[in-house]
Amino acid sequence: MSDIKKIKDEFLLRLKKNLDLNQVNQIKTELFGKTGLISSQFKQLGKLAEDERKKFASDLNLVKNELEDLITTKINDIETKEINKKLEKEKIDITLPERPFIQGKIHPVSQVIDEISSIFSEIGFSVEEGPDVENEYNNFTALNTPDNHPARDMHDTFYLDDAKELLLRTHTSPVQIRTMLNNKPPFKIIAPGRTYRSDSDQTHTPMFHQVEGLHIDKKINMGHLKGCLNYFIKEFFEVDKIKMRFRPSHFPFTEPSAEVDIGYEIKDGKIVIGEGDKWLEVLGCGMVHPNVLKNVKVNPDEFQGYAFGIGIDRLAMLKYGINDLRAFFDCDYRWLNHFGFDPIDVPTNYRGLSR
Ligand code: DAH
Repeated sequence: MSDIKKIKDEFLLRLKKNLDLNQVNQIKTELFGKTGLISSQFKQLGKLAEDERKKFASDLNLVKNELEDLITTKINDIETKEINKKLEKEKIDITLPERPFIQGKIHPVSQVIDEISSIFSEIGFSVEEGPDVENEYNNFTALNTPDNHPARDMHDTFYLDDAKELLLRTHTSPVQIRTMLNNKPPFKIIAPGRTYRSDSDQTHTPMFHQVEGLHIDKKINMGHLKGCLNYFIKEFFEVDKIKMRFRPSHFPFTEPSAEVDIGYEIKDGKIVIGEGDKWLEVLGCGMVHPNVLKNVKVNPDEFQGYAFGIGIDRLAMLKYGINDLRAFFDCDYRWLNHFGFDPIDVPTNYRGLSR
């Protein structure tokens, strides 16, 4: 029997046994390593006579391929078995019952802020934000509020230091200052957010929400202010007509200043916005005072405009028939479940603001 046949028979026998990966690799080296049996056989080729060489080479190649294939198959089998064993051990137990799924609700205040942002974005306003902790300058001085103004009083304002330099902003108006100091005119922004005053009763909470509006450009006048607010109130309350009146008022940062009332009536015990002979105050507004513009390095001879501040909580109460302001901040899950909104139901001007 030739050497080649002997090698073949011996190794086919050995490879048939139950082997582990190490043992198969060992056999692989014995055959195909540098000094392996098959490799050594190839080295003999040169010593053979020409007529023998061809047959020898062809026999040797056949055996080489056969053994090689067998070894590869064997290694693959062993590896697959190992993976399967692992999978078996690491199987995830999916028989556990799922955890209860509770869907949250959007708070009416958040919903109304989204509605307001959507309405104003439709007519070119962008949304700005400012911090709840403000400095005295942005909250009062830059807004033309004199030193002796009652709003500066400790009874009204939460100061955060003895020097009265830091405070919780008492309105969203300082965002006007921040926006104008950091950018160049024109400005057309709204700024919704939290505001704080030392006040607490059925209609006042120490923390509440406002949205500020500011539109500064060349030749902006009170007609623009009226048109803008008229559009907003109609869109917000989703009515075609609205009765609205401007009542003269005073704010240090606007001249002239006005408060805006909207008409309403009570029908079947429910408040109906837009008609009727009763009046509800909803916001403060006016033409931005030249001193404010000077404070933020905007030339009042070139640029003018209007500003307004609206109480968001009040609007939410009116629109959604909520009658106690304090409930907004009680964090009562049952209340939120009743008055809250579906998280997926994002208000847009096209799909509808509220449902
Ligand atoms: N900041 C005022 C307040 O909290 C509301 C206000 C009134 C804002 C007139 C304005 C405005 O921008 O022009 O009572």
